[in-house]
Amino acid sequence: METKQSLTITDNRTGKQYDLPIENETIKAKDLLQIKVKPDDFGIMTYDPAYMATASCKSTITFIDGDRGILQYRGYPIEQLAEKCSYLEVAYLLMTGELPNKTQLDEWTASVTTHTFVHENVKKLMDGFHHDAHPMGMFVSTLAALSTFYPTAKRIHDPAERRLTFYRLIGKVPTIAAFAYRHSVGMPYVHPDNELSYAGNFLSMMYKIAEPKYKPNPVLERALDVLFILHADHEQNCSTSAMRSVGSSHVDPYSAAAAAAAALYGPLHGGANEAVLRMLDEIGTLDKIPAFIKEVKEGKGRLMGFGHRVYKNYDPRASIIKRLADQVFEVTGRNPKLDIALELERIALQDDYFVKRKLYPNVDFYSGLIYQAMKFPVDMFPVLFAIGRMSGWLSQWEEMLLDGDQKISRPRQVFLGHGKREVPMLSQRA
Ligand code: ACO
Repeated sequence: METKQSLTITDNRTGKQYDLPIENETIKAKDLLQIKVKPDDFGIMTYDPAYMATASCKSTITFIDGDRGILQYRGYPIEQLAEKCSYLEVAYLLMTGELPNKTQLDEWTASVTTHTFVHENVKKLMDGFHHDAHPMGMFVSTLAALSTFYPTAKRIHDPAERRLTFYRLIGKVPTIAAFAYRHSVGMPYVHPDNELSYAGNFLSMMYKIAEPKYKPNPVLERALDVLFILHADHEQNCSTSAMRSVGSSHVDPYSAAAAAAAALYGPLHGGANEAVLRMLDEIGTLDKIPAFIKEVKEGKGRLMGFGHRVYKNYDPRASIIKRLADQVFEVTGRNPKLDIALELERIALQDDYFVKRKLYPNVDFYSGLIYQAMKFPVDMFPVLFAIGRMSGWLSQWEEMLLDGDQKISRPRQVFLGHGKREVPMLSQRA
């Protein structure tokens, strides 16, 4: 007998029954609105702060099985993409749904590379920031400012215009990121070197000093490229939801991307690897770990880089990064904080508190150690994350725009405030 794909709900207030269709293990929240006591009621809503059990979209981009520790972009396992592809191939995959062939990759790379330079006024704008401005603050603001340089980007329903935005944003984010860093350390900006790879050019813009041509170390160049791949998309996380939600107002993609980057700035999201390093610094030595773990268990702070809304198993990206760390440390020398991180992980994975709550290392637990070994200051960590994530944000934004089910994002609320009141004059208020 075929199972009926529906959910029957009885409203005990009225005794009425409702049959709601189930599709993809999901009911439509809107179907609940028919459940009313009086005809002029609004109908039943769901209360779901932080979207714990609410799907806000249908997507074909990224699949995560958090219990089994699986991450796939467009069906391809992250482990294989990290092993066999470059970041630009993965960005193309996210954008189009397919991996590029050689010709497509050459064209795509040329298009992105053509757009690595920024307008001179962008440089002037960045010069205006205070000398110790946080690079992520500069990055967010400069992204927003780009909308004023490319006003035609507001033609979001024009596919050619959208493609141009992909080229421009993916091409320019390493430049803006590197300029933010150079400004924060008082060094002159280095123009893009379009003969280098995506990651190699970024390293050149970060670290080139007087040498006529910067030669990136191939191990570090590849490690950075893999880190961009690992950060490229992660379905409906906080910053991607911001991209979709802000983009749903049909604002231009630069403004939406600035909102996404702002979301990524927070310590619970893109700022977590910065927080991991600060935590490792605070712990300082191996003997202080048990006391630190005790404090975390007493609710006095969190073990940063542990836990995830979706992964209730080892984050597959954390495993790849742990392996990558060994290769990087062979070039740069071992980051002394690695020992503290490894010991923290060992203790936490055996501790009932973490086991019961299914708290495992996430992508940020080891990425900061690699970035630090590669001489990126901690302030740059969220910026590095944003470079990789730009391709995911844009792909999700375009998917949202082309999805006929989507409208301007506008959550409902459960109102618990006052009934209507009269406004007293100032002199009459207690
Ligand atoms: N350390 C200690 N306890 C934790 C941690 C942690 N890192 N994370 C969660 N918990 C505990 C909570 O205190 C809570 O315990 P309780 O049930 O006794 O109250 C339980 O685990 C569930 O935690 P929530 O906060 O409800 O889980 P949520 O899914 O909302 O949060 C988050 C996920 C924000 C990632 C959280 O695990 C966290 O703060 N981790 C540290 C920050 C971090 O590493 N963020 C990076 C995330 S990955 C990324 O953005 C790329």
